Amino acid sequence: MNALMLLKTDHRTVAQLFDEILGTNAKSKKQSLIKKIVKELSVHAAVEEQVFYPAVRDAVDDAEDEVLEALEEHHIVKWVLSELEKMTPDDERFDAKVKVLCETVTHHVKEEETKLFKLVRKHMDHRALDELGRAMAAAKKVAPTHPHPRAPDAPPGSFVAGIGAGLIDRARDAVRGLAKAEPRPRRGASGRAKKIAAKPTARVSNHQR
Ligand SMILES: [Fe+2]
Ligand SMILES: [Fe+2]
Repeated sequence: MNALMLLKTDHRTVAQLFDEILGTNAKSKKQSLIKKIVKELSVHAAVEEQVFYPAVRDAVDDAEDEVLEALEEHHIVKWVLSELEKMTPDDERFDAKVKVLCETVTHHVKEEETKLFKLVRKHMDHRALDELGRAMAAAKKVAPTHPHPRAPDAPPGSFVAGIGAGLIDRARDAVRGLAKAEPRPRRGASGRAKKIAAKPTARVSNHQR
């Protein structure tokens, strides 16, 4: 898939998730949808910052202003995501924050797909876009799954931080998945066993912060 198609597909996926979360009153559904939105947007933003934007800056002379503005919008989006990640739908600010996030992302996507993609199409041929798409698809597999608003967002820092954050996020997701899948320790289990069971989660989340 070429780079622009890949990004557009991500944009449509996120727009669909926003439609769903803004159209429901069920708190459990909001909770599961915000998790998906956090993951989709974190991966998408990281791939753009690590691969797409640097390639565009190299290939397109007059894209500099658009890319810098896009990075600032990503910065705002990642902060809002990091706040939403710590909230629940019971919080009185949850719905308002989701709405503002949706408005910010919608504005950002519109600018990307009109102004930035137009410049890219003018300066990059099909072969270059296909190659870039392949690099982005590979980056998606290891990109961070949670927002890291304090991490560098331009090379070379973004590349190094992105790999580290991606590995830590994926370890954290795996540990959380395991914690959900494993039955709770039986009553009467020794204190030591409980401590061992709790240790990996604590270690990963401390490291992440
Ligand atoms: Fe973007
Ligand atoms: Fe995008």
